Amino acid sequence: MARPIRGEITVPGDKSISHRAIMLAAIAEGTSRIDGFLEGEDTRATAAIFAALGVAIEAPALSRRIVHGVGLHGLAPPSGVLDCGNSGTGMRLLAGLLAGQRFDTVLAGDASLSNRPMRRVIEPLSTMGAIVDAEAGGLPPLRLRGGRDLRGIVYTPPVASAQIKSAVLLAGLYARGETEIREVHATRDYTERMLATFGWPIEFSSGHARLTGGHRLRAADIDVPSDFSSAAFFIVAATLVPGSELVLRGVGLNPRRTGLLEVLRLMGADIREEGRREQGGEIVADLVVRHAPLRGVEVPVACVPDMIDEFPILFIAAAVARGTTTVRGAAELRVKESDRIATMAAGLRALGVAVHETPDGAVIDGGAIGGGAVGSAGDHRVAMSFAVAGLVAGDAIRIADCANVATSFPQFLELAADAGFALNPGV
Ligand code: S3P
Repeated sequence: MARPIRGEITVPGDKSISHRAIMLAAIAEGTSRIDGFLEGEDTRATAAIFAALGVAIEAPALSRRIVHGVGLHGLAPPSGVLDCGNSGTGMRLLAGLLAGQRFDTVLAGDASLSNRPMRRVIEPLSTMGAIVDAEAGGLPPLRLRGGRDLRGIVYTPPVASAQIKSAVLLAGLYARGETEIREVHATRDYTERMLATFGWPIEFSSGHARLTGGHRLRAADIDVPSDFSSAAFFIVAATLVPGSELVLRGVGLNPRRTGLLEVLRLMGADIREEGRREQGGEIVADLVVRHAPLRGVEVPVACVPDMIDEFPILFIAAAVARGTTTVRGAAELRVKESDRIATMAAGLRALGVAVHETPDGAVIDGGAIGGGAVGSAGDHRVAMSFAVAGLVAGDAIRIADCANVATSFPQFLELAADAGFALNPGV
């Protein structure tokens, strides 16, 4: 068993907000300053794409960007393929933003992204008048035809997805008339909030957003809060290791992101919020996490969209909890950076945990985690989750294929060491 996790840490900036800040600042008029920008591979890929589209972006310090916006119609044709790396958010949001440009573009990605479904954005964008070609099965690369006249639509995404919603809203900036989103399950509303921050008239409430094309974005300063999804690994680590008490400073607590808090509390976790305040239009708080024994639960299906990125680490909490944890209604996990149901189930089984996979979830019999070798399928969140499992495992866990941790959280090892957990990157 590891030493208690103690002290105070600040995890890096929110990935979703960092992507959007670069995108909107790039097509705004004037100079925007972004503080707390996530220095991850995904968000840097998005910044590099806008540089390739002719936007001057300065990086005067780590986690800071100064973006010299070119206005809604000021992007320049790129000289080559735009590389989104590992980022589904980058590719899907850019598909919307680039569908209304006057020039053609090609969006490509790494091996994982090249296998992720894009029909979900191609369909609504095509209805708006865009021409988007993909590989067989609706897979990347995406080829977007420029010079199209887009028209607004009323759209209900077939799955709960902020990426689909955002792609349609960003295309809506360039469309004639009104673009409206009606969600069955509300998803994170960062695009809506940030459009408002950049001065675009938009009406939105939980599960609903409406805007019209043809306005302007004006430069804004964005202060990005800490990413709840990065904090999640430390929240679970401090919960699982006896004697722990960890403070996480300034964590973004947008209610469409914090489903894991609700579920961990149902399981018996001791997580307090202190100093609730506003930062850059988002609610943030310091989280104080103390060790607590967990019990298995049925994860409420209503919580699933609010914790869609947290299932890998929830699976680890469930494997340690006493009793059975059941996850349902989470088929989207099969099309994330890896098939997260299959990757997590295979890894936990290799560590001696009884996991029954279902098409849209899993049933995990908790108790104890053993040592062993697991794969992470190149998935950053799977790798970090098994690193946390190593704190409470009966023996060492070897995790293969961890390089992609840098996509969302390159400082993970460093911060883990600060909090007192030793990980050996060479093993
Ligand atoms: C994101 C939305 C989510 C999430 C992803 C980031 C975003 O994807 O999994 O990590 O920034 O909009 P979906 O909206 O497709 O579920």
